[in-house]
Amino acid sequence: MVQDDTDDNDWLAEDDEHAIAQIAARPWRVLVVDDEPDIHAVTRLALNNVTFKGRSIEILSAYTGAQGYDLLSQEHDVALVLLDVVMETEDAGLRLAKRIREDLDNNLVRIVLRTGQPGQAPEQQVIVDFDINDYKAKTELTAQKLFTTVITSLRGYEGLQTIEANRRGLARILESASNLYQIDSLKELASGVLTQIGAILNFGTEGVLCIMQNKSPGVPTDPFVIASTGASTHLSEHMALPSDHIWAEEINRAFREGHSIFSDLVDVLYIRAPHGHRFAVAFSPPWPLGDLERNLLSVFCDRIAAAFDNLHMFGLLKTTQEATVVALADLAESRDVTTGGHVRRVCRLTDGIAAELHAAGKFPEETTPTFLSLVGLASILHDVGKVATPDSILLKPDRHTPEERVIMEEHALIGETVLGRASVLVEGISTLSMGAQIAGGHHEHFDGSGYPRGLKGYAIPLSARIVAVVDVFDALLHRRPYKEPWSLEAVMAYLQERRNTQFDPDVIDALVTFLETKKPDWIIAKGH
Ligand SMILES: [Fe+2]
Repeated sequence: MVQDDTDDNDWLAEDDEHAIAQIAARPWRVLVVDDEPDIHAVTRLALNNVTFKGRSIEILSAYTGAQGYDLLSQEHDVALVLLDVVMETEDAGLRLAKRIREDLDNNLVRIVLRTGQPGQAPEQQVIVDFDINDYKAKTELTAQKLFTTVITSLRGYEGLQTIEANRRGLARILESASNLYQIDSLKELASGVLTQIGAILNFGTEGVLCIMQNKSPGVPTDPFVIASTGASTHLSEHMALPSDHIWAEEINRAFREGHSIFSDLVDVLYIRAPHGHRFAVAFSPPWPLGDLERNLLSVFCDRIAAAFDNLHMFGLLKTTQEATVVALADLAESRDVTTGGHVRRVCRLTDGIAAELHAAGKFPEETTPTFLSLVGLASILHDVGKVATPDSILLKPDRHTPEERVIMEEHALIGETVLGRASVLVEGISTLSMGAQIAGGHHEHFDGSGYPRGLKGYAIPLSARIVAVVDVFDALLHRRPYKEPWSLEAVMAYLQERRNTQFDPDVIDALVTFLETKKPDWIIAKGH
């Protein structure tokens, strides 16, 4: 049991550097709670050179039940408590055992009772209820017996810990996998995966790197970086992994061989998504991973593989939708006098104002994540109804007659109707349904004097109240056949004069904040 130095060193010499690092990093922790200092000294001596599964034993000491409790409430990795029964009170040890299981809710730590008064054996019920592993008289504490008791207890603790780690790891995987399915960008997903691997393995994400290779198998190409943390944060997104990067060889090997690699230098998880996209997550854990951890990671990779594919498809769909909406808006604008840049500026400025309103806590019911993600794109559809306006009226440089004005104003309702009809095909709120709202409401005035319905105040949808400001702002700031561009000051003075009458004052304030804080240089096009 107590090994002498020679034995110990022989054992160490047989193992590799990692095992040595492991021993040093994570000894088993055994807590002695006893009011007799001699017992601490004897225990320490007896367990001095003992190792179990390549890990040494660290002895912690407490001299009262209360001290023992404090220590256990701070140290969560104590494997075994060697616990005296009689200390500050007759039953201090039993009370501590009860508190460990009940108050600290620690069911993993093994407890061995030791008493100097053999006649005071605890009731059987206590041993059962508090999951006490053994009960010894101190006189029985020969070094050999202590060794057996400690090793048996550590083995029990290790088994429970493995089950618990497995349970927690799987719980984290289930939780994180469902979180990861809610993310809607590949970069965010990659960062989330790095964070979750850190959580599953219980170490920080330091030195973790995520790589993707998006070419077909067999075509030689460099992996691309999607996200990186820790020591590799200097690698930027969508940059080819430099061939001289210290992990490049292992990462390339994982792609080439099509499986995960666990090496001394780095661990590389290989993920093949159902639609053939291939990813690798490389990281360097502070200690070599055990079988349990590797198994958990492989379960995690299986769970998230489809998330990568989903996001890739989602990204494609989103880009296609954006391109379609821009084309639709351009089509309407192409007959008009405005430049193509108008729709894109309207989109960005609408997004900017919506974000400012959200940040300022205005209209929290309306500025939902869905609203914020759709409103910019939807805003560019505001004048789609103009496709139905005759050229003679749409392109007339002079003032419209009252009859022409009526026809001109029809574009709001026409846009709303066309987009509204199309939006029925899409479930829930979409770019089309919000576009319909904006088309129908962007000429309404805050005081009810606008068209087509004469809606007033908050009866006008927020999206339309924002676009009402943005549309006028951009039109005044740029050249039109019938007018020269205005200065920014003049435009702002015009809008401010009409707060509460034509425009929602909160939207104007948000525009002012946006211009002041973001200082966007794109609001004014070249040669405007
Ligand atoms: Fe309009």
